Amino acid sequence: MVNTITVVGAGNVGATTAQRIAEKELARRVVLVDIVEGVPQGKGLDQWQSAPIENFDTRVIGTNGYAETAGSEIVIITAGIARKPGMSRDDLMNTNAGIVKGVAEQVARTSPNAILIVVSNPLDVMCYVAKKVSAFPRERVLGMAGVLDTARYRAFLADALDVSVRDIQAMVLGGHGDTMVPLVNYTTVSGIPVTQLMKRERLDEIVQRTRGGGAEIVSLLKTGSAYYAPSAAAVQMAEAIVGDQKRVLPCSVWLEGEYGHSGLFLGVPCKIGGRGLDSVIEVDLTPDEKAALAKSADAVREPMAALTF
Ligand code: LAC
Repeated sequence: MVNTITVVGAGNVGATTAQRIAEKELARRVVLVDIVEGVPQGKGLDQWQSAPIENFDTRVIGTNGYAETAGSEIVIITAGIARKPGMSRDDLMNTNAGIVKGVAEQVARTSPNAILIVVSNPLDVMCYVAKKVSAFPRERVLGMAGVLDTARYRAFLADALDVSVRDIQAMVLGGHGDTMVPLVNYTTVSGIPVTQLMKRERLDEIVQRTRGGGAEIVSLLKTGSAYYAPSAAAVQMAEAIVGDQKRVLPCSVWLEGEYGHSGLFLGVPCKIGGRGLDSVIEVDLTPDEKAALAKSADAVREPMAALTF
């Protein structure tokens, strides 16, 4: 357990994240921050009132400022606007870059040793904004995308194969967008290559559905984007840090030559522990997978270059 985990943004993703952290007692305090007056306070109080029923002692505190967040060990940034139907994650870029910049400045001032978990979209570009503004080392700026994209992929596979989600091991790499790269060759069902259990065409359909997994939810909800699975994914990363678990998870991290790329955030297999990023794990990729990852990197570099701040 750590002392303080801050969640910035009291929308659906942020609020659900705070509640999950409290229920798991990952910290003594969860501070929920939002600029809208009353909302973080109201949601924080409501969550804290669930404590006697759910049996957790984590205090949930809502606030509009950063004083209460001082010295946070982990800060999860969910602030920003969400997609509406028909919008791509990149359409959110300039608005959310301004928001994430403001948040990163405040966090760097009040919690200079924090590990950041960025959730705001477009994810890989927002990680870059957070890293640049905070000037934190790459070990302490992690983007949540791969865990979510992999969870969607695993859920679809579990359904298609009618097996437990627990037995599906998989990894989705690349940027958090339509160019993400599910690694079919590394997908197994309790060690059995998935290609032995499913026809290639069916697998390709699942890969495509995974790529559009976020948009599928947006088109159903119409007024916002997903939050149950995104919050679960962010909390799994936080849990790996709090428990120094050395979990092997796909996260968006600043690349310094790994997989032949540098100077951008991209989803790759990472070992996550108490210091944040412990190491990037480089696995062999087929020429097709390498090409797909390069295409995904281009899809992140392009909006990054268009950033104006
Ligand atoms: C999604 C959003 C959170 O993938 O990017 O649902």
